[in-house]
Amino acid sequence: MGKCYPVVSEEYKAAVDKCRRKLRGLIAEKNCAPLMLRIAWHSAGTYDQASKTGGPFGTMRIKGEQAHAANNGLEIAVRLLEPIKEQFPILSYGDFYQLAGVVAVQLTGGPDVPFHPGRKDLDEPPKEGRLPNATLGNDHLREVFVKQMGLSDKDIVALSGGHTLGRCHKDRSGFEGPWTNNPLIFDNSYFTELLTGEKEGLLQLPTDKALLDDPVFRPLVEKYAADEDAFFVDYAESHLKLSELGFAEA
Ligand code: HEM
Repeated sequence: MGKCYPVVSEEYKAAVDKCRRKLRGLIAEKNCAPLMLRIAWHSAGTYDQASKTGGPFGTMRIKGEQAHAANNGLEIAVRLLEPIKEQFPILSYGDFYQLAGVVAVQLTGGPDVPFHPGRKDLDEPPKEGRLPNATLGNDHLREVFVKQMGLSDKDIVALSGGHTLGRCHKDRSGFEGPWTNNPLIFDNSYFTELLTGEKEGLLQLPTDKALLDDPVFRPLVEKYAADEDAFFVDYAESHLKLSELGFAEA
């Protein structure tokens, strides 16, 4: 499906560039790349292709969406980001949160994910319950990513590699611990650890482990574990698709 990106003003483009620099500074200072990637993903991942509702349109700024159970902890991301957003009133929140995700991946050593501006903010949060439930399996992942969001099997595996960053917090999700030994570095260690199996001090969610039990998912896990360049190429493509769900549809 082709994209037809809106034209934005030179002033808007300049604000995007300057905002990128401010975001790099914030993320470097606070070591908050994982939370920034998570807010970008939880903003976009609510997209429902059937009703064309939800998606990366800035609604995470609204308390009602921050209060969804899946978003526990993201009020911290909103709070950290607000002083930067205030410097760029011209930017939509939709663009701003997606830009934060792209900068988080780049700054921690991940691939450059292309960014196109021009998302228009919505004023109503999506219905609760559209993000994946970590206690379920592959049928559920396909229900959410493929059926609801309109992404592919390959996108599920590549994007799961986002868990190369960060950790679970008992008081946010009920789970505890990081997926890798270097949770502030974006690399392919999520996949190498997944294949190694459970290890003291590291964690794998049921939805992570489920990737090993599927005839389509498992070969991709093996490919990304063996070839970081291949992971980065596919991740950048999948992250771009995620960040533009419902945006610039031709
Ligand atoms: C496949 C379905 C997914 C499930 C079930 C899932 C579930 C979770 C859970 C339970 C947490 C822990 C939250 C906490 O306690 O702080 C988490 C954290 C995280 N998730 Fe996912 N996730 C999924 C996909 C993704 C995707 C697609 C991305 C990005 C591309 C992503 C990026 C992250 C990051 C970066 C964190 C760490 C946040 C932090 O350190 O504060 N996740 N995820």
